[in-house]
Amino acid sequence: MLRNMLSRRRFLMGSASTAGLSLLGWTYFVEPRWLEITQSELLVPNLPDSWAGKRLLHISDLHAGKVTTSYLQKAIRIVNELDADLHAFTGDFIDQTGGIEELKKVLHDYRPAKLGSFACLGNHDYGQGWWQVEVADQVTEVVSQRGVEVLRNSRFERDGLHFLGIDDMWSPRFQPTESLQDWDAANASLCLCHNPDVCDLPIWENFRGAILSGHTHGGQCKPPFLPPPILPVRNRRYTSGAFSLDATRSLYISRGVGHSMRVRFNCRPEIAVLTLKPS
Ligand SMILES: [Fe+2]
Repeated sequence: MLRNMLSRRRFLMGSASTAGLSLLGWTYFVEPRWLEITQSELLVPNLPDSWAGKRLLHISDLHAGKVTTSYLQKAIRIVNELDADLHAFTGDFIDQTGGIEELKKVLHDYRPAKLGSFACLGNHDYGQGWWQVEVADQVTEVVSQRGVEVLRNSRFERDGLHFLGIDDMWSPRFQPTESLQDWDAANASLCLCHNPDVCDLPIWENFRGAILSGHTHGGQCKPPFLPPPILPVRNRRYTSGAFSLDATRSLYISRGVGHSMRVRFNCRPEIAVLTLKPS
């Protein structure tokens, strides 16, 4: 009887350890590199007919230097193969611990999109403490050399579509009011802004359009049917995916390609294919 109880206990303990080890292996080795290509529509008020149906790839949070270079190079190959009309990068090209040299390798074979590639910077692009402007300038140089226009509190217009990039909210260069000043409400507008908390600030004036963000990584670990417990945002509604902010602004938050700590569960890395639609 006692021997039976002991062997049953040993069996249960063995099963629990195996399940625990499998889960650890999954969250460390498998899911952080299991890139998902998601498909959604992006509604843009006043979108000119010539832009309707165009495909925009939303790529975010590479974290070169922290994330395995070969995995990121594979992600960039996928970006090239998807052959989209536009590419939008929403920051954290590198990790705060460094990654300029790795970023050069990651973007070495990158091909800009047919109608343009643009980007904003994230907090990690500003190095340690999110405060090293010289690091952000280096990131900007590397990315620009690969044909991506980095928008740092700046805007431009192409064939009736207005692009705006806001520098990171936690950085010393966060100056959104400059670029949003005198915004025409009739513009078809796309904004890149790393941290979705910026959406709640009273800065948007006449901006009507879609905002693309990253930063949250979707929380990286998400219990089934529950929100992720860890999110680096004030507004905990901002997890990942599409949000309607109000009658005139929408938001898409990418789960990101990379990670900060190497762990993901029920929250795969993402490249979003967003099809532009008038609203
Ligand atoms: Fe990030």
